[in-house]
Amino acid sequence: MNTKNIAAVAARLNMIPSDAPTSPTLSQTGDCSPDCPDCGGVGYIRHDVPVGHPKFGKLERCPKARLFVTKQSLQAGEIDPRVGLTPDELRNLSWDLVKKGVNQADRACEVTRRAYMSGHGTVFMYGGYGQGKSLVLKIAVATALNEGKRAAYANLAGVLDDIRIAYDERENKMTELVRRMEWWTSLDMLAIDELDKVGQTEWARERIFQLLDARYQRAVRQEALTVIAANYQSTDELSGYLKSRIEDNRFVANGYVIHLKGTDGRKSMPKNWKY
Ligand SMILES: Nc1ncnc2c1ncn2[C@@H]1O[C@H](COP(=O)(O)OP(=O)(O)O)[C@@H](O)[C@H]1O
Ligand SMILES: [Mg+2]
Ligand SMILES: [Zn+2]
Repeated sequence: MNTKNIAAVAARLNMIPSDAPTSPTLSQTGDCSPDCPDCGGVGYIRHDVPVGHPKFGKLERCPKARLFVTKQSLQAGEIDPRVGLTPDELRNLSWDLVKKGVNQADRACEVTRRAYMSGHGTVFMYGGYGQGKSLVLKIAVATALNEGKRAAYANLAGVLDDIRIAYDERENKMTELVRRMEWWTSLDMLAIDELDKVGQTEWARERIFQLLDARYQRAVRQEALTVIAANYQSTDELSGYLKSRIEDNRFVANGYVIHLKGTDGRKSMPKNWKY
């Protein structure tokens, strides 16, 4: 593989190759902005540290390159379909689209935005239809992706479908299952919609537990954010293990459990409203 290929593959995988090439031709083939002040376009940064320092001789991904790649792929429409948003939603959704005075979506939005800024936690919003729950979830994910984070929006049923395909079809079932679970678990931010609408087979229950528990643990370690929405009227409708995790005082104390009981926004959205 030549240097050009290595750079391209590494960039696509968003990896830091331990043996990344240092040839000057990389500056023409790197994937950061050509006038990036940090890396000069290469996409990697070498730390100027003394021999023996843990970072000595190591290349690190330029944070601006990650952003650049995301923006480019967004524009080109080349983005993992599992992120769950349309290109139009990715480009246009932003916090200020949530209208005040329609229902309580503006409060949910304010809380979610605060959690997003902190980068970790578990936010749970529940209530009837048309409360703006899905809208807020999608806005948070669009914001995260546009800021270079790894994020996805999905109905819980959709997540399960993705995982189940691995289980049903692939030869190397366990490896593929683990790989797919890992994709959802490792996201910086995961927005799970329609928690209430999933099959209750033993298999589904186990996968949901596995995923949400892994996300919960990452939230507690302050590594990742999970935002969940359900059409429930009370948190008592949650399974016991989930209720206990969602109502963890580290989240409740921040106002991360939100009951939305306003009017149905669908009844008052203007004719040309797309979201
Ligand atoms: N406060 C709000 N500001 C802007 N749009 C809203 C608001 N509340 C609801 N909507 C719109 O109403 C519709 C229903 O909202 P949605 O997010 O799907 O609700 P839910 O997921 O709670 O059922 C969507 O088109 C959404 O964009
Ligand atoms: Mg919804
Ligand atoms: Zn750069």
